Amino acid sequence: MKILVTGGAGYIGSHTVVELAQAGYEPVIVDNFSNSATSVLDGLRAILGHDVTCHRIDCGNAEALHQVFKAEGNIQGVIHFAAFKAVGESVQKPLAYFDNNVGSLLTLLEVMKDEGVTNLVFSSSCTVYGIPDQLPVTEATPTKPASSPYGRTKQMCEDIVHDTSGAADNTLHTILLRYFNPIGAHESARIGELPLGTPNNLVPFITQTAAGIREKLTIFGNDYDTPDGTNVRDYIHVVDLAKAHIAAVQRLLDRRASDIVETFNVGTGHGNSVLEVVKTFEEATGQKLNYSIGPRRVGDVPAIYADATKAAEVLGFKTTTSLRDSLASAWKWQLALGK
Ligand code: UFG
Repeated sequence: MKILVTGGAGYIGSHTVVELAQAGYEPVIVDNFSNSATSVLDGLRAILGHDVTCHRIDCGNAEALHQVFKAEGNIQGVIHFAAFKAVGESVQKPLAYFDNNVGSLLTLLEVMKDEGVTNLVFSSSCTVYGIPDQLPVTEATPTKPASSPYGRTKQMCEDIVHDTSGAADNTLHTILLRYFNPIGAHESARIGELPLGTPNNLVPFITQTAAGIREKLTIFGNDYDTPDGTNVRDYIHVVDLAKAHIAAVQRLLDRRASDIVETFNVGTGHGNSVLEVVKTFEEATGQKLNYSIGPRRVGDVPAIYADATKAAEVLGFKTTTSLRDSLASAWKWQLALGK
């Protein structure tokens, strides 16, 4: 059963490729390697014991996408990860985010329709909730204005999927997964988060600081209306998150979905502050972290974490990895990178 994984060489994509293969699917990667390295393919081979097919193309290139569907023949579904993903960067480069994130979805949907492929799992984000009135957020929590262009692209992509599904000639069945904050790495330490240049995200910045690559971590603000003043997020281990995709793909293929578009939060259900993450990292790894408090980062939401009930009840999905173990796995990956 072939599943096309756009952005399959990326952070969440590569971990999902492993879980797909281990669940008996045949993942086929499409990636332009704009924010990933070909060494990911070596890591996949080391974990799985075989190569994974990878087409080096841009998802916005309809002709190239068509050729992939035709060359592969029997693709049953698509998991669409390929996108830019940094909240802060999106504030600086909004047009690049709209072009890449919205544009590639439009192209993919057109091509899927032409090729008769009807199953889609879309990488959405808890950023669609904007600054929520109540925590935790359920899937029914109204979406508020997004705090960043990145978040807006995810809102727009969700709307595009809904409108496409509402069209009279629709063939598309979609599961929208709203991710909270993925962290950590595969237990083998053969794949993990591989930021090119200075990391935007918290955990790679922490591990690079502990490894001496960065001088110190700046915590973006400690004057938020949260228990310790720093932002609160729901940090989910990337392998747990990857497993949610297997449940979603299987549900689509079995036509068990109760609606033509279904939406799930994928988080742990717990919120942790930036300071808690720093302290837990120090405890889990024995590393002392050099950090200071800096100004707020534009586009940051003060606090958000998931109500994970729907994914548990409907998808049968539950996270199993603690924050401590997730951070320990991120450190193990950083050490492996150093070697
Ligand atoms: N942070 C710092 N210092 C840093 C980096 C981050 O204090 O050097 C803080 C941020 O202010 C935020 C928290 O750490 O409070 C997490 O920031 P990340 O950049 O790691 O994650 P975001 O919450 O901004 O965004 C991430 C992904 C998005 C995804 C989102 C869902 O990058 O793709 O989680 O919340 F949509």
